[in-house]
Amino acid sequence: MNSGAESIEGAIKLARKNGGDGRHVVVSALKSFHGRTLATLHATGKLEMHGAFQPLPDGFRHVPYNDIEALEGAIDSSCAAVLLEAVQGEGGVNVADADYLAEVRSLCDKHNLLMMIDEVQTGLGRTGKWFGWQHYFDPEGDVRPDVVTMAKALGNGVPIGAIWAKKEVAFTAGEHATTFGGQPLAASAARAVLRTMEAIDAPQMAKSAGDELMGKLLTVPHVLDARGLGLLIAAEIDTAAIGKSAGEVALSCLEAGLVVNGVTASALRLAPPLNVSKEHIDEAIQILTNVLGGES
Ligand SMILES: Cc1ncc(COP(=O)(O)O)c(C=O)c1O
Repeated sequence: MNSGAESIEGAIKLARKNGGDGRHVVVSALKSFHGRTLATLHATGKLEMHGAFQPLPDGFRHVPYNDIEALEGAIDSSCAAVLLEAVQGEGGVNVADADYLAEVRSLCDKHNLLMMIDEVQTGLGRTGKWFGWQHYFDPEGDVRPDVVTMAKALGNGVPIGAIWAKKEVAFTAGEHATTFGGQPLAASAARAVLRTMEAIDAPQMAKSAGDELMGKLLTVPHVLDARGLGLLIAAEIDTAAIGKSAGEVALSCLEAGLVVNGVTASALRLAPPLNVSKEHIDEAIQILTNVLGGES
């Protein structure tokens, strides 16, 4: 495919195909983000984004993230799949609790649902492992999601998206396709990206740079807390003390040469390149210190 949203569309189709008659509902999390096409927008749990685009396609239900009881409570005979991010990127860099995804796996087994993980933002090394879900499952074991979607980093700027699915639940030829899907330029770019990422051990780079960035963020004035995995990090800002929202802080950072975004009213997201240097991390910390410290 050509994008993240198209890969999620494919996952939703897999859910419906495997669910069969009367079982088509995909349960996803509040604050999740899965794309901007009509179906992926409805899967998206940022409900404020739905308003202008009604009616959205039927078959989506949202539950609080990291709440296994709420998930179990939402499952009935109309459900076909659970769709989750390992770390909610757009929703505020909310990391899955230690046992959550394994419990989701058990629930999916119990109710015969597909467990689908959206790795569009977290995939390909960003979190310090190749895929975010790998933080939660034994890497040697065969307990894993049924469907994994990816895009963004796969082409390193060249549009491409992809779905992994277990053989038993995958598409057969012709069920999901697009003119440019798998076209030689994008596929060559993805092969080159993967070769390079493997050669430099990009997940390990993200892990060590992420540890360093996280540690240094906690020393910046008015940073109350930092959370995330690898190089997908949010810094919680004392917005009351500085009298600025995270969005306004992000704008000041941009003017000073640092690209971050206000991912909630009070949190800044930092997602630098996986090969970010120590010098760039120090420069970023200096800019943030100037922007935040200067306002106290
Ligand atoms: C977790 C997640 N899923 C899906 C998407 C949609 O991907 P795209 O913008 O390539 O359609 C995004 C984009 O930010 C994302 O972060």
